[in-house]
Amino acid sequence: MKDIDKVTLSADDWDELTFPRAEENDFDGVVERAISRRGFLGGVLAFGSGAAAMGTGLLSSTVVQAQSAGRFPFTPIDIQTDFDVHVPEGYSWKVLARWGDPLAPAAAGYDITEGGPVEGSDMVFGENTDGMESFFYQGHELIAVNHEYTNRRTNLPAAQEGTPANAGDVLKLQNLQGVSVMEIRETDAGWEVVTDSPFNRRIHHNSPMTIAGPAAGHDLLKTEADPTGTQSLGTFNNCGSGKTPWGTYLTCEENFNGYFGSTEESQDQKPVQLDAGYARYGIGTDGWGYDYHKWDPRFDTAKNPHEPHRAGWIVEIDPTDPESTPVKHTGLGRFKHENAEVVLAPDGRVVVYMGDDERGEFIYRFVSNGTYQPGGSTEGLLDDGTLYVAKFNDNQTGEWLALTPETSGMASLAEVLIFARKAGSAVGATTMDRPEWIATNPNAVEAYCCLTNNKNRGVKPNAGGDETPANGPNPREVNHYGQIVRWKPDNDDHASDSFAWDLYVMAGNPAVHEDAYAGSPNITPGNMFNAPDGMAIDSTGLVWIQTDGDDDNEGDFAGMGNNQMLVGDPVTGEIARFLTGPNGSEVTGLCWSADRRTMFVGIQHPGGSWPDGEGLPRSSVIAVKRDDNAPVG
Ligand code: FEO
Ligand code: CA
Ligand code: CA
Ligand code: CA
Repeated sequence: MKDIDKVTLSADDWDELTFPRAEENDFDGVVERAISRRGFLGGVLAFGSGAAAMGTGLLSSTVVQAQSAGRFPFTPIDIQTDFDVHVPEGYSWKVLARWGDPLAPAAAGYDITEGGPVEGSDMVFGENTDGMESFFYQGHELIAVNHEYTNRRTNLPAAQEGTPANAGDVLKLQNLQGVSVMEIRETDAGWEVVTDSPFNRRIHHNSPMTIAGPAAGHDLLKTEADPTGTQSLGTFNNCGSGKTPWGTYLTCEENFNGYFGSTEESQDQKPVQLDAGYARYGIGTDGWGYDYHKWDPRFDTAKNPHEPHRAGWIVEIDPTDPESTPVKHTGLGRFKHENAEVVLAPDGRVVVYMGDDERGEFIYRFVSNGTYQPGGSTEGLLDDGTLYVAKFNDNQTGEWLALTPETSGMASLAEVLIFARKAGSAVGATTMDRPEWIATNPNAVEAYCCLTNNKNRGVKPNAGGDETPANGPNPREVNHYGQIVRWKPDNDDHASDSFAWDLYVMAGNPAVHEDAYAGSPNITPGNMFNAPDGMAIDSTGLVWIQTDGDDDNEGDFAGMGNNQMLVGDPVTGEIARFLTGPNGSEVTGLCWSADRRTMFVGIQHPGGSWPDGEGLPRSSVIAVKRDDNAPVG
């Protein structure tokens, strides 16, 4: 997250500023762990995270497709440092939708220097596109796409430093975040949004939601406006996404805490019964700079102390029914959700993998009690079940630990779910290097998770006070580069409570470092990157990796250029660069057209004046095709 006012602080950095943590100063311990880290890495490399060795690794026997190296049908591209998008020769790209583009005939017009007015801002494509999924319904192609946050200076160019000056400014920011559902079609001129489609819909910070699952109706979710604790307004900081087997969209609430603040400065000390939850989730008096609490009392925790408990969930949206009410599923737990990867166990139970993107937080899994029957009722499949948290052992095994009142010592299942992080700490979950997207392989029973980076690994505890020494899947202290961990559930069953794991790749810079910070052997000066974040595995089993890292191309990051999208072969470990984004941007969000001949890619927080070439930068979804119109995944 760049270009944020308060400024240029990442969400994690803002949290640490608000809730400072003591540094771990056990220097001897750090050195000792560094030594054992080298020993452990030796084991990993022998096991096979290298390009040549990976095919004989622990997990490869289950990979259905025996693909050879060099299966990528393109010539990898070089790094770039400019303000444009680049794809390989033989491919081309075109903008599909930009921040401010109309999603309805009556939408506000976009002004190239001023953006748009507050009136009608709930009918335009929102800002900062993120997770997205495509749906095919009765001959219509639909995309549901997240709008994670706003660059306030871009959206409020008339306001001082982008700080809202009135309720209208706040409303505009609230309108431009959330989710867009839009119909698209391909014409001779390329893909376009069907502006007058009845499927088009904006869901934003004031859209009505239903709260479902074991925590619905709990006292901690009740507010003055909703004494039932079952009806809330808005979905927040919609980061990654997911898609259910029954054709609904899952939007995932990540850094929701930044929208809340307090008009009473003593708030941090005040609600004793809430204090642990507020601190663990980073809810402070100032907020992240949106200043909603000064203009909209719902976000003022002095007046509505339970309102933050109604955010931090996964929300299900039916993209085919514009009249449907989105549902917040409390069964999936409350934390800073990245995405929700849904997969079916062999017996039909629904498994949802989820990461909590904060330094030292955890990876979760939900397993439903009921089973999915095509065409049958899906009631309860995302709420009635068990939430688990991952424990990775250094010997490359792992287990899922159930989060219940019994295992966590917490008073009720509702509290376990509302404060899932505290339950995870109580059962001894493994602290991770910021879990971002999780993807499962459609051609093998295995899952991958991007661990984007963690400068606090081995330096500071997480927000709950859990120590964060280097560990198996997070083997490097002060980890600026990130890695991708992969696990294979025992018995080829995603509902199994145990698994084997390895590292698919450790990002690094072999041009600058010779030690573990050079990365795993499948990283070369020709394909290096930092901060893996977005990820999707296509129908052929290729792993698409999107980055959200440091793009200054200097120092530790020299030779990495702008953020990018790469593709990896799960069998050989080979990784090649496919796309580079404009400087300043993050590449995030990926889905395909029904015929797989088009790949839709999100470009978030671009720099310069991309893509218009003049005026404000506009976060956009682009359509990428092969010039010969062959499938692209
Ligand atoms: Fe919104 Fe963790 O990325
Ligand atoms: Ca982002
Ligand atoms: Ca992300
Ligand atoms: Ca990120």
